[in-house]
Amino acid sequence: MKYQLPEGFIVGASQAAWQTEGWTAKKHDNYVDYMYKQAPNRWFDGIGPTIACDFYNRYKEDIALMPQVGLQANRFSIDWSRFIEDFETATVNEEGAQFYDNVVDEMLAKGVEPMICLEHWELPYELYEKYGGYASKHVIELYVKYAEQVFKRYSGRVKHFWTFNEPGVIPELCFLHGNWAPSFVEPKTAFAWNYGKVVATAKAVKLFREGNYEGKIGTILNLGTVYARSNHPRDLEAKRMAELFNFRFYMDSLVHGIVPQELIEILAENDCALEITAEETAIIAENTIEILGINYYQPGRVKARETQLAHTFFHPDQYFEHYDMQGKRMNPHRGWEIYPKALYDLAKTVQEEYKNIEWMIMENGMGVEGEEKYKNEDLQIQDDYRIEFFAEHLAWLLRAVEEGSNCSGYLVWNFMDNISPYNALKNRYGLVEMDLTQDRARRIKKSGEWFYQMSTTREFELATPLDPELK
Ligand code: BG6
Repeated sequence: MKYQLPEGFIVGASQAAWQTEGWTAKKHDNYVDYMYKQAPNRWFDGIGPTIACDFYNRYKEDIALMPQVGLQANRFSIDWSRFIEDFETATVNEEGAQFYDNVVDEMLAKGVEPMICLEHWELPYELYEKYGGYASKHVIELYVKYAEQVFKRYSGRVKHFWTFNEPGVIPELCFLHGNWAPSFVEPKTAFAWNYGKVVATAKAVKLFREGNYEGKIGTILNLGTVYARSNHPRDLEAKRMAELFNFRFYMDSLVHGIVPQELIEILAENDCALEITAEETAIIAENTIEILGINYYQPGRVKARETQLAHTFFHPDQYFEHYDMQGKRMNPHRGWEIYPKALYDLAKTVQEEYKNIEWMIMENGMGVEGEEKYKNEDLQIQDDYRIEFFAEHLAWLLRAVEEGSNCSGYLVWNFMDNISPYNALKNRYGLVEMDLTQDRARRIKKSGEWFYQMSTTREFELATPLDPELK
């Protein structure tokens, strides 16, 4: 079956500063640099962000490849710790900023729309060490000052600004699960960071509007549609609670301007009270985002808890547990379920429950280990699995668009193989290979050629039907 991209629908890719740039000319560490320095042995093969893709030095070569794989847009993050010299005064580091100027100009010259994300976990480490990161109201003010410098410098040349990428990931994995550095379990800190990022977003939106900056401003959330094991009221309640924590906290706050009252109360009862001021409540209500970015990789499946949590600290998992559905399709390399229809369901939720706000897929992709073994005689990786992955997800998304969803783009993860937190270079996602064995040589994969075809002809074929036949 053939699918066509609607007029104006953008296709592209995303990347993050810390995952691509490397440490050349960096004067300050960001939070992920700290994660690596704290325990390099925990990163796959000990590889961290030190060189990454060396994008800082090779950006021209890389941006030249972007149109060759059909990117109409590329979302990248600015590393706050590179862009700003003095975090208190938000004095720009001219050398760092010049690099981003060059990246923006180069993308424009190559016909690729640059989209800027202000933070993909690159909080300057000093602001964590000194103030505790986003739990601090002072850090939120510093973030807004930094945002202002970015808006001033790039508004006009850049049309999409994103306040955060996946704001909930560091709070959850670092302070709730204790998995990532500093490997502390501090539930109150985790929720304070989440709330802090909501306030920071609302304040940045306010500033953006008051400054009449050109373009749109939004946030990028990692959302997976949550499915209940069954329609039993207890399973449905488990789903409702999983959504409250994992979906509605950010969605209600940023799209409706209301932090869910039920969540505020649960947190207060469990020693995780949010420090909310009346002024912040008003700012959140009046400065909702203009566009929503969604990163989608896998759905959430939950069931009612069968055992009580032995945790002595508060954790949302006390209201639900993961449901391991039989027969689910898996990406074994990443251990994530593949379920493209969730994109359609997600689109419906945004359409029906979130004002049909304009939104885009800002990440969707498949991380695969050992891709070298799929190379043909011309050394090109034959990643048909990735083509199928993209085509299926995009087809479900387009079905929702046809039915009125206000989705205006599909950006994949990612343009070129890069570093992941802890998984480092184990699983590769790129349309372009980065070959570590040959001076990080870049080679377009088969999926890159497919993406180019899809983007330039504005159509693609899907061999497998979206609705499977009964056999
Ligand atoms: C997203 C992040 O959660 O998933 C990216 O925004 C990340 O930074 C991507 O790389 C894929 O996850 P991973 O852990 O396989 O790299």
